[in-house]
Amino acid sequence: MVPVHSQSPVLAVAGVIKNYGARRVLDDVSFTLGAGERVALTGPSGSGKTTLLNCLGGVDRPDAGTITVRGAPVHALDSLALARLRRVEIGTIFQFFHLLPTLTAAENIELPLQLIAVPAAERGARVAAALDRVGLSSRAAALPGQLSGGEQQRVAIARALVHRPGLILADEPTGNLDSANGANILALLRELSDEMGIALVLVTHSEEAAAICHRRINLRDGRMVMQG
Ligand SMILES: Nc1ncnc2c1ncn2[C@@H]1O[C@H](COP(=O)(O)OP(=O)(O)O)[C@@H](O)[C@H]1O
Ligand SMILES: [Mg+2]
Repeated sequence: MVPVHSQSPVLAVAGVIKNYGARRVLDDVSFTLGAGERVALTGPSGSGKTTLLNCLGGVDRPDAGTITVRGAPVHALDSLALARLRRVEIGTIFQFFHLLPTLTAAENIELPLQLIAVPAAERGARVAAALDRVGLSSRAAALPGQLSGGEQQRVAIARALVHRPGLILADEPTGNLDSANGANILALLRELSDEMGIALVLVTHSEEAAAICHRRINLRDGRMVMQG
């Protein structure tokens, strides 16, 4: 077990600023997140939540400030080092699942392991374990189009953690699910982050989703206005 809130943060964000043209969309955002710690990122539409998540994952670059993931400076890495860091340390979950439609559930989950060159035999065992953990062993050979929304999000969760990242970034992961499926997905995310000591940044509009987190960061016009 990874100790919860262990000394060195998994994610450290300090003084992040992001402008689009003349418009400042992130203004002096700072926080840290330890192993197994979950933070809800809330705020109205347009407040900068997705932009912040994209900066944390190295998809977008801040104009100022620093972002480190397990000590690596995401804001300063070249594209090769950034790609490697993302493959090893970060998992991502989206509102609309983003599974590859022509690959089976098992093949979608296997992809992150292929990207970091895990040997085939070990890949098979880890994919099977991940499918089992999200309750989808019997659906391994199904294509995404043959799965319900809740099942597709379970596959996406398995894909996000099969390579054992330190950090999962989730953008409205229950936004496209009914409340029963949404509650199941939230319970699963909480359990997995506790079990594996994975830090979670969860963008959400829902109080139910914020409730699985230890803390909340509320954005207004790119500024942190409240932390709980
Ligand atoms: N690529 C972009 N170019 C210009 N403006 C953008 C871009 N992406 C986001 N924005 C603007 O940045 C602000 C924050 O957007 P976003 O991070 O998507 O907010 P949220 O996820 O909280 O709804 C919005 O005003 C949005 O229009
Ligand atoms: Mg958004």
